[in-house]
Amino acid sequence: MKDATPQPVYLRDYRPFGYHVDEVHLTFRLDPGATRVIARIRFSPNRDAPGPFVLDGEGLDLKWARIDGAAIYPEVTETSLTCEVPDAPFTWEAEVEIDPAANTALEGLYLSNGMFCTQCEAEGFRRITYYPDRPDVMAPFSVRIESDLPVMLSNGNPGAAGEGFAEWHDPWPKPAYLFALVAGDLVAYPDRFTTRSGRDVALNIWVRPGDEGKCAWGMEALKASMRWDEEVYGREYDLEVFNIVAVDDFNMGAMENKGLNIFNSSCVLASADTSTDADFERIEAIIAHEYFHNWTGNRITCRDWFQLCLKEGLTVFRDQQFTGDMRSHAVKRIDDAITLRARQFREDNGPLAHPVRPESFVEINNFYTATVYEKGAEVIGMLKRLVGDAAYSKALALYFDRHDGQACTIEDWLKVFEDTTGRDLSQFKHWYSQAGTPRLSVTEEWRDGVFHLHFEQHTPPTPGQPDKAPQVIPIAVGLLNPNGDEVLPTRVLEMTEAKQSFAFEGLATRPVASVLRDFSAPVILSQETDNATRALLMAHDTDPFNKWEAGRAFAKDLLCRMVTDGAPPESAYLDAVLAMLRDEGLDPAFRALALGLPSQDDLAQTLYERGHTPDPLAIHDAVETLVQAMAQHMQDTLPRILADMVQDGPFRPDAASAGKRSLGNAALALVSRLDGGKAAAAQFASADNMTQQLAALACLLTIGKGDAQARAFRDQWQHDRLVMNKWFGLQVARAAPDRAADIAEKLTRDPDFTWKNPNRFRAVFGSLSANAAGFHAPGGKGYGLLGDWLGKLDAVNPQTAARVSTAFETWRRYDADRQAQIRAVLETLAAKPDLSRDTAEMVQRMLE
Ligand code: PHE
Ligand code: ZN
Repeated sequence: MKDATPQPVYLRDYRPFGYHVDEVHLTFRLDPGATRVIARIRFSPNRDAPGPFVLDGEGLDLKWARIDGAAIYPEVTETSLTCEVPDAPFTWEAEVEIDPAANTALEGLYLSNGMFCTQCEAEGFRRITYYPDRPDVMAPFSVRIESDLPVMLSNGNPGAAGEGFAEWHDPWPKPAYLFALVAGDLVAYPDRFTTRSGRDVALNIWVRPGDEGKCAWGMEALKASMRWDEEVYGREYDLEVFNIVAVDDFNMGAMENKGLNIFNSSCVLASADTSTDADFERIEAIIAHEYFHNWTGNRITCRDWFQLCLKEGLTVFRDQQFTGDMRSHAVKRIDDAITLRARQFREDNGPLAHPVRPESFVEINNFYTATVYEKGAEVIGMLKRLVGDAAYSKALALYFDRHDGQACTIEDWLKVFEDTTGRDLSQFKHWYSQAGTPRLSVTEEWRDGVFHLHFEQHTPPTPGQPDKAPQVIPIAVGLLNPNGDEVLPTRVLEMTEAKQSFAFEGLATRPVASVLRDFSAPVILSQETDNATRALLMAHDTDPFNKWEAGRAFAKDLLCRMVTDGAPPESAYLDAVLAMLRDEGLDPAFRALALGLPSQDDLAQTLYERGHTPDPLAIHDAVETLVQAMAQHMQDTLPRILADMVQDGPFRPDAASAGKRSLGNAALALVSRLDGGKAAAAQFASADNMTQQLAALACLLTIGKGDAQARAFRDQWQHDRLVMNKWFGLQVARAAPDRAADIAEKLTRDPDFTWKNPNRFRAVFGSLSANAAGFHAPGGKGYGLLGDWLGKLDAVNPQTAARVSTAFETWRRYDADRQAQIRAVLETLAAKPDLSRDTAEMVQRMLE
C-alpha cells in the first residue's frame, strides 16, 4: 500500500534533538535472515533545547526495551518509537531483529556476495536500530560483532577479539550516518603509514579472495592522500587503523564511514588488464575524497541534511585540488568543467533544478546531486578566488579550529571567511540559495584608447524561484594584443551588479579579451566574437582552460549552424584544431581534450536556448559529419600521432603515460573513420591493457564493425564482473541511434544481466540515456524500455531507480511527439501503486 503522500521536510523547521547521546554500545548477532541488534545507549536531556523523546526506526522488529533496567513498552509506528523517559540521564536498551538477506535496497545492513555490510548515509541507521538518526546527534560508539565469519570490522580502533566475536571502539563522537559494519570472508591488502607527528597507522584494503592483485593502486592513492592532507591542509589522521572494504553491490561510489570506508568495488579495484586510465584516475580521486571526509564531514559534520554541501562541496573541491597536484591542473580543470556542464548545467536548467543548499526535500537520497557536489565545489573555488590563497588557508585553519567536533551549517562556514577577511559575504551567499545557472554576457568597446568590457548577468527562473538577485561573479580576465602576446596577465574582476563595466587603460592597440579564464565561475558565458579571434585564442591564450574553451565554443557554434542552416564544417575550425594537435609543446592529454567535441546533450540544450527545438538525430548527424571532416583534414598528421604515442615497456598508470594513450586513442577514433577500423582492430588484438583494448573496441563499435571483437571481449572477460560492466555499457553507448534501444533490450535478456546489482543496471541504462540520439530515437522505444525497467528496479532498489530516472529530466526541450511519449512513461510510473517515495518525488518534480 502506498503511504499517505510523503510530506516534505523544510530547512526552516530545524529543531535540535531534545536529548544528548553520551555513548552508544551495539552488539550484533549476525545471521543472514535474522540478525539481532542489541543497543545500550546513554541519553541525557538537552537542557538548552528540550523536546520529545522520539527515535527513528524502519523495518525493525522490536523484541524488548528497557530504561535503566526496567522493561518498557514503547509506542511504535512504521517509522518511529516513543515512550516516557526520566528527566535525567538514563540508559536505554533495546533488542531488534532485522533481515539483511531480504534487504535489496542496500541501505542499512545487507548482504553482498555473502558479505555483511552497511550503508547508513543518509538515513540508513534507522534500519539497524532505534536511534535519533540525524547528523547533529554525535556520540562515541562501541561495537561487538558476533558471528563465525573470519573478518569482522567496525569503526574506530580494534578492541578485544576471539573465537566468534570482535569488538571495536570509536572514540571520536560521530553521527549515526558514519556508522559501519562489515563481516565476511575477506582478505587484506595491508600497508602502514606514519603520520607527520609520528603516529603509526595500519592500513588495509579488504577484498574478496582473488581480488588482492587489484589493491596496490588504491593503497598508493590512500597514502598519497594522507600525506597531501597533512601538507596542504595540515590535517592528520586520528585513529590506529584505516580500513577500506570493496563491495560489489553498492548504490553510490563510496562512503566515508569513520575509519572504515566502504567502496563500490568499481571505485577501488584496479589493474592494468582490467582498468582504464580513466578508472585509475577516478579511483585515486575517490580514495582521496573519502579520506578527506575524515576532516571535512566526519570531525566537522553537517547539522542537518540541508547542509550536505558543507561536507560534499568542500570535499569535492579538496579532491579536485589533490588530483590537480598529482596530475595536471589544466587538464583537471577542463575535465571538471566538462563534467559540470554535462551533469550540473543539465540539472540546473531543467525541472530538477535546486539550490546548492536546498530548502526542502521529500527524500534526502534524491539530493546527492551534481548541484550539491559539483556546483558546491565551484562555490568554494569562487570563494577562494575572491579572498585569495592566503586568506583561504587562514579561513580553513580557523574552520578546523573553531568547529572540530561540531555539526555545522553554511552560515558557520561563511562566518569563518568573514571573520578571517572582514568581508561581507551576504551577497555571495546567493550561490547557496539560488538555483539556476547564471547567464553572463559580455560586449567589448574600444574608445579613445581605453578598452571596456560591459557585462550583464541574468539567472533564469527555476522551480519555486521566479526571480533572482544578481550574484557575486569572479571573472578572471586577461588581454592579448592582436599578435597573440599577453598584454594584461590574469586579473579577477568582481561583478556584483546586474550590469557592470570595467575599463582597461594604457593599451597601444585594441586587445583581444580572454574572459572567464580557468572557468572562474559556473556560468554560461556568451560573447560576440569571430573565427579569427577564436583561432587566435586557441593558438596563443596563456590560460590553458581558455585556450581549450576557445576551440570548444567554436565547435559548439559551428555544430549549431550545421544543424540549423546545414552549414559545412569550416576549415577555420579544422585548421585551428589541427594546429593544436601538431603542437608538440602541448601536453598530450591537453591535445586529446582539444580534439573532443561538445556533447550532443549540451548541443541540444544550446539549440533549445537559441530558440530551436533540438532534433537529436540531426545533432548526431552534424557531429558525425564534423568528425569525418576532422579525420580527413588531419589524415596526414594522424598516423604520426599514433606512432608517437606508442609506449614501450610495461603499462604505467601515471598521468604522463595516460595522457599519451589518451591522445593516441583520440587519434585512433579519427583514423577509424578513414581505414574502416584496420588500425583499431590491430590495437584490439595486440593490447596488453584495458585502456587500449576498450578504446579500440569503442572505435570499432562506433563505425558499426565491432561485433567479433565484442564477442571475443566477452569470452576473455566473462569471469570479471567489473570488466563485464564495461562490456554491457559500451555496446549501448556506441550503438547507432536506430539500434541503441534494441541492443539495450537484448542485453537485458542476457543471463549475465544481474540487474539488481546497481553497477550492472547502470551499465545498460546509464549508457542508454547517455547515448542521446539512441535514447531519443523516433518511436520512443528507449523511453518505454527505461520506464519499464525503472518500475521493476524501484520495487527492489528505490535509490538507484530514482537516480537513473534523471535520464528524463531534459524532456521539455523536445518536440511534441517526444514530449508526449516521455510524459506517458512518467505518468505510468507515477501511477504505480507501490512506487517508492524516492522515485515518486523525482517523477513528480519532472512532471510539474
Ligand atoms: N557520502 C558519500 C560521498 O560522497 C556518498 C554517499 C551518499 C554514499 C549516500 C552512499 C550513500 O563520499
Ligand atoms: Zn563525499
